[in-house]
Amino acid sequence: MTLPQPADLTLVIPCYNEADNVVPLIAGVRSALEGVNWEIVFVDDDSPDGTSHAVEKAAQTDPRVRLIRRVGRRGLSSAVIEGALSSTASVVAVMDGDLQHDEGILRDLVTPLLDHRADIAVASRHVEGGDSGGLANRWRHVLSQSGIRLAQTLLPMRLSDPMSGFFAIRRSLFVQALPRLTGTGFKILLELMLSVPKTARLVEVPFVFRPRVAGESKLSPLVMVQFLGMLIERACGGWLPTRFIIFAAVGAIGIAVNLLVSEAARFAGANFEMSQLIGTACAILANFQLNNRITYLDRPLRGKRWLPGLIIFVVGSAIGAFGNIGVAQLIYDTQGHWSRASAAGAVIGVVWNYAIASTLVWR
Ligand code: GDD
Ligand code: MN
Repeated sequence: MTLPQPADLTLVIPCYNEADNVVPLIAGVRSALEGVNWEIVFVDDDSPDGTSHAVEKAAQTDPRVRLIRRVGRRGLSSAVIEGALSSTASVVAVMDGDLQHDEGILRDLVTPLLDHRADIAVASRHVEGGDSGGLANRWRHVLSQSGIRLAQTLLPMRLSDPMSGFFAIRRSLFVQALPRLTGTGFKILLELMLSVPKTARLVEVPFVFRPRVAGESKLSPLVMVQFLGMLIERACGGWLPTRFIIFAAVGAIGIAVNLLVSEAARFAGANFEMSQLIGTACAILANFQLNNRITYLDRPLRGKRWLPGLIIFVVGSAIGAFGNIGVAQLIYDTQGHWSRASAAGAVIGVVWNYAIASTLVWR
């Protein structure tokens, strides 16, 4: 009996609700990569439409098809990371699972890497011959363009399409970059490019971004928020985590809610204490919900974990408020600076709340 050859190329396909696209995608890859020793890893976040089942069925007739099914977790970047980590091939390629990425160019993408002529190959919609026509609407075009401009200011190398989700990378390079990846949001390529050594050899291959046929896009406003947070994190040299930046921004929204609601309550005839109480309660609830939906989007509290989470959050925030006031008082007493004292108090408060939220509430 001859042993099957190990794969030279692992194709990682992040997918969520792409059941109808699995079979055509595998067929496309089969004909595009004839003669290459490839394998496909679908990383599915337990999609309700049965994507995992579709992959399992395909795997029963082709041993090159593999599945990673993640339960209770979501996220494109982290899915890509896990797929790549499951590979032992020398080259890893990443492609969307919705047929928007033209598998016809896969060979052009991976050959320079397999031949040791390049270390990263990016399928680009913005080099000669490429096209982003498949973006859902005008709004997406504008967002995509501004995102690219913003990202390019941070990048040490010239890359025309840093937002592409279609690329190949030498696995050793990926492993080297791994400790610096946040694993949040959609922009894994951009993060990789910010993390690999400047000596990495880069090629760009044009491709035409196709419109989606089945299923729908998962790129939401929340993903944009995460993206901005990631850019700020990088611009700060990485010492402020994205999550903390988003957490602090949510906190600022909470302050606005507090002011608006307590003003409204006062206007409606509530006395001072009552209006403060209503304002604070609304602010805490708004903060909790926003954190649950945005800051901790990858591990939201649902069902019977929601209320206990809220209670810990409220108790934690109350303790934080005492700490906040205490520190401000201390600094005011010793230094006499009003604004410096309250700023220091606020910073302590946010850091404390963040610590509680990340360790006790959204574990
Ligand atoms: N496992 C997993 N988990 N997969 C996900 C998740 C998730 O939470 N969210 C999205 N995906 C998968 C989708 O199923 C799809 O295969 C791929 O990731 C891209 O998601 P889409 O929702 O189709 O994204 P898009 O078409 O709007 O975005 C495209 O353009 C971006 C640049 O504008 C993609 O090509 C992105 O990779 C690219 O960054
Ligand atoms: Mn898509």
